[in-house]
Amino acid sequence: MGLRDRLKGAVKSVIGGGGGSSATGPAVRAVTGLGKDTPDGYRVVAPVGAIKEGAAGTYGHNNNRVVAVFLKDGKYYAVDNECRHEDGPVGEGAIKGCLVKCPYHEWEYDFTTGKCTTQPDSRLEVYAVRVQDGFIQVGPMTSPGTSMRGGEHNDGLKTITR
Ligand code: FES
Repeated sequence: MGLRDRLKGAVKSVIGGGGGSSATGPAVRAVTGLGKDTPDGYRVVAPVGAIKEGAAGTYGHNNNRVVAVFLKDGKYYAVDNECRHEDGPVGEGAIKGCLVKCPYHEWEYDFTTGKCTTQPDSRLEVYAVRVQDGFIQVGPMTSPGTSMRGGEHNDGLKTITR
């Protein structure tokens, strides 16, 4: 076996192209599916375990948006990541129960419904989430969000107007 064949074998064992004969083959093959879209409209966003209970992660979705995925009581929830106040990254906010506070000015959302508790006429889009083959997948929108932006801050600071 020449150097070229040995390199091919090494590459196959890393990316899982060896027909599943290696102990790590199937898991590595599945990881290469991260960021891929399934035929039924889901995107593979992360391996199970990437999001800890009571925490969130943010991922690109196949609709060119970023979604925040939360794990609460063993169940995943996904909403879009753009705060309806000034587009702050909702998925990076402090979480308490089913509520997350936008890290910018503390607008608060229920990530199980997308509803904004600070401004009840604002809401985030909600997406279907499932676990398949050890990966978290985010699918089609199940509840629309509002498009309007702006409103009062909720952190005691005043909006600066020039
Ligand atoms: S951008 Fe989220 S509260 Fe201001």
